[in-house]
Amino acid sequence: MSFAFGIGIGTQNNQGEWLEVYYQQPIMTPDKALIDVVESALDYQGGNQAIEASAEQLHQFANGLRQLGQTDQATLAEKAAQSKRPVVVTVLASDDTASSTPEVYLKLHLISHRLAKPHGVKLDGIFGLLPNLAWTNEGAIDLNELADRQLQARIEGRTLEVKSVDKFPQMTDYVVPKGVRIADTARVRLGAYVGEGTTVMHEGFINFNAGTEGTSMIEGRISAGVMIGKGSDLGGGCSTMGTLSGGGNIIISVGENCLLGANAGIGIPLGDRCTVEAGLYITSGTKVALLDDNNELVEVIKARDLASKPDLLFRRNSQTGAVECKTNKTAIELNEELHANN
Ligand SMILES: CC(C)(COP(=O)(O)OP(=O)(O)OC[C@H]1O[C@@H](n2cnc3c(N)ncnc32)[C@H](O)[C@@H]1OP(=O)(O)O)[C@@H](O)C(=O)NCCC(=O)NCCS
Repeated sequence: MSFAFGIGIGTQNNQGEWLEVYYQQPIMTPDKALIDVVESALDYQGGNQAIEASAEQLHQFANGLRQLGQTDQATLAEKAAQSKRPVVVTVLASDDTASSTPEVYLKLHLISHRLAKPHGVKLDGIFGLLPNLAWTNEGAIDLNELADRQLQARIEGRTLEVKSVDKFPQMTDYVVPKGVRIADTARVRLGAYVGEGTTVMHEGFINFNAGTEGTSMIEGRISAGVMIGKGSDLGGGCSTMGTLSGGGNIIISVGENCLLGANAGIGIPLGDRCTVEAGLYITSGTKVALLDDNNELVEVIKARDLASKPDLLFRRNSQTGAVECKTNKTAIELNEELHANN
């Protein structure tokens, strides 16, 4: 059984190197019969391969797919045969470290299409395979070719708008998963997993290999690798600590029905039904005073010892400055009106 498959339409630079690839209908664990058709129509040799396909090959491929009953993929292959941009058929026999740009793009698509969860796909070494590009209203452009394209556009009476300069494009140019609201689409990168029922407000941000399981109101930052449980809210400007630079190696996550207050932050994974007071940043080494129901001190421990424990309320005592933790008796109820996506 192969790991993944996709027919993609992409962009190459003047050297014929892949810059990015759009896969409209990626498939996880494709049937062996489908892979056999890739073998016969496109000379697939096994393993992980990104095969650039000609129009003629794509017609032949489409016929084979149609005979198999893979109508959607057959139609896609036929449409791709008309493409003015290069077409690639990518097969990942296994989830090994990617070795080409089309492979990385397929992996990122799997997550944003909700076919794989963050941490469910091997993404080691992807930065080296993702070129830093100008993302423009005329598509992705190699930075070495940008000035010429800008000049050409002006000469022809157009303006080339550079929306971002980055290794990752915005997710919504590739897929808008069902049942989401995203106020500022630039703030969700391809490779994000945006669960059904999630609203991302302007201040919210979701990195690749990170996201939400389901209903959530996101007004803060979900760093790479971080997953937010169903029914949890991230308040305005709050922060979840990433593991990419200096954030230690604990993988941060947020359980279900949690609230990170505005401008709060976490450097430990939170269990279910936890609240962090607005403005309080808990790092893993933060010393926390555990209080009982009468607000009496039980003990002082490090925040990392409370990692993933449920029903906790963290706050900074406004009189002493000490970080305190109590039982969270008023786990939040999500504001239904705010969460309605449709
Ligand atoms: C931490 C938080 C959840 C506490 O809210 P709460 O459970 O409703 O608590 P209350 O404000 O009713 O306070 C309960 C008691 O604790 C006290 N208290 C609350 N925060 C305190 C603090 N930081 N230090 C000392 N005492 C505090 C209150 O004064 C009150 O005392 P009382 O019993 O003498 O009246 C709330 O302050 C908070 O930060 N919410 C986040 C909201 C948010 O940011 N949403 C996202 C918007 S984008």
